[in-house]
Amino acid sequence: MLLNVSGLSVLYSGSNEDPALKDLTFSIDEGEKVALLGANGAGKSTLMLSLLGILDAAIGKIEVDGVILEKKSLPLIRRRLGLLFQDPDDQLFMPTVYDDITFGPQNYAENTGASKEITEKINEDADKILKKLGIAHLKDRMSHKLSGGEKRLAALASILVMEPRLLLMDEPSAFLDPRARRRLISIIESLPNACLIATHDLDMALNLCARCLLLHKGRLRADGATKDIIADKKLLDECGL
Ligand SMILES: Nc1ncnc2c1ncn2[C@@H]1O[C@H](COP(=O)(O)OP(=O)(O)OP(=O)(O)O)[C@@H](O)[C@H]1O
Ligand SMILES: [Mg+2]
Repeated sequence: MLLNVSGLSVLYSGSNEDPALKDLTFSIDEGEKVALLGANGAGKSTLMLSLLGILDAAIGKIEVDGVILEKKSLPLIRRRLGLLFQDPDDQLFMPTVYDDITFGPQNYAENTGASKEITEKINEDADKILKKLGIAHLKDRMSHKLSGGEKRLAALASILVMEPRLLLMDEPSAFLDPRARRRLISIIESLPNACLIATHDLDMALNLCARCLLLHKGRLRADGATKDIIADKKLLDECGL
């Protein structure tokens, strides 16, 4: 198993309400594509942030490729997971799109002893990804002046260049026009990487993911075949979808 989560709960500090996540247990296999469904506030984004070790309030056990998530394993874990944030403004922070896309690989290369060849390879990879996503023309634009959909694609590029073993995508099709959405779907389809995709786009979930997890008020309400879960109107209704 690539990812093992057991007994994961999150109670945000200052919140005396119900926990945002309650006792989640599930696994994801190498290369597996899993949709993460649930109404607004169900806990999808909280789950994604917990997997990256961003939330101090998370308790339970998270294991990535046999490595248990703890303070000292964070760099290793974050090398294997890539998160596409729900809000692309949380992702893009460099002056230009190109800087954002090369930042991760460059930073990693510097920590491991970068050579001129590595820098050239990083630039080549960045160009390839930009082209694949159909945004080569945005390369030198300022990230914060892009449209919502352009930002989403630039953020996606900055994750894909890192070649994570498990891609966590929080609403990847939000803001995208039909053509960009179709392109996104075919790119995700062609990726060998495992993906966990939080989405309200049920068509996309059905298209890409044979399996889905359904969250309801922080609990894992269903884990099974996407086509069965999406066809279960009563279950979806109970979960606010
Ligand atoms: N930083 C925070 N502090 C306190 N409560 C939070 C925080 N972030 C999220 N929550 C609460 O935790 C619950 C789960 O939120 P989360 O953002 O994970 O939902 P979601 O499933 O991603 O929803 P959406 O579909 O709207 O993106 C919600 O009730 C939300 O209000
Ligand atoms: Mg969310």
